[in-house]
Amino acid sequence: MREFNEQSITQAVIDRLSQSDDPRFKRVLTSLVTHLHDFVRDVRLTEAEWLAAIEFLTDVGQTCTPKRQEFILLSDTLGVSVLVITLNHPADSGSAESTVLGPFYWQGAPDLSRGSNLAEGVKGEPTFYSGRVLSAAGGPLANALLDIWSGDGDGDYDMQIPGETGMKARGKIRTDAEGRYWFRSIRPTFYPVPTDGPVGRMLRKMGRHPYRPGHIHMIVSAEGHHPVTTHLFVAGSQYLDSDAVFGMKESLVAQFDRHSPGVGPGGVRMDVPYYTVKYDFRLRPVGGE
Ligand code: BEZ
Ligand code: FE
Repeated sequence: MREFNEQSITQAVIDRLSQSDDPRFKRVLTSLVTHLHDFVRDVRLTEAEWLAAIEFLTDVGQTCTPKRQEFILLSDTLGVSVLVITLNHPADSGSAESTVLGPFYWQGAPDLSRGSNLAEGVKGEPTFYSGRVLSAAGGPLANALLDIWSGDGDGDYDMQIPGETGMKARGKIRTDAEGRYWFRSIRPTFYPVPTDGPVGRMLRKMGRHPYRPGHIHMIVSAEGHHPVTTHLFVAGSQYLDSDAVFGMKESLVAQFDRHSPGVGPGGVRMDVPYYTVKYDFRLRPVGGE
């Protein structure tokens, strides 16, 4: 029998990893226990606070469903998701920057031809998106895939709209031989992350707003290159400076130019004002690092 004091307890827990045969696991757990114990000592955690934390984490787990991941939302709003992404995809890697996937990705969006309107029947200001997918050295990537999704002009994703069962404002577009892509959708607006669960309570307690600046999501991929999970942010959108999930990256902010009604790109007749936005994505070759 050996008893521990408030300092020696930390090494005692770490010592019990000695039989683990996974060096990476050992390294991660040793650091986790060290930081966790330091945190408890630092704030001199009370028993009531410890219990409140256990109840909070239990609630986070119980709020998860096959369609809702409250733990990822917790990680997002505490900046952990972006920290992990930034460590693993440095800004100077030669690729477009990565940012959070978010909870609204839906696998199996329809394959659409270039120029298609992804947001047929979706509320919002029409926007023509175009640009190229290039390799890090600048060469065009033919047949690169853009898997695209966004909310509507009110900031609601299809999954969030009561009674809406089908996909809306989603689609996959491939580049042509010169690496060019073009499609139509809407200009996304800012919207709140889900706030009706424990993470929403935490944000209110922290005195924080829950909003993300307007953005459209895409996963861009091409053969022989590392795929990138990213967004285009709407320049000038509210909350660019205070994204609730810390996902905003300057290099992903795109200018949305407003046009009066008339003939839009591709000769499309527009009866309402519309926007155009151009953005080139670079991808890092596999093995080129
Ligand atoms: C999103 O952009 O869809 C999102 C990302 C993180 C948390 C909630 C929403
Ligand atoms: Fe989003």
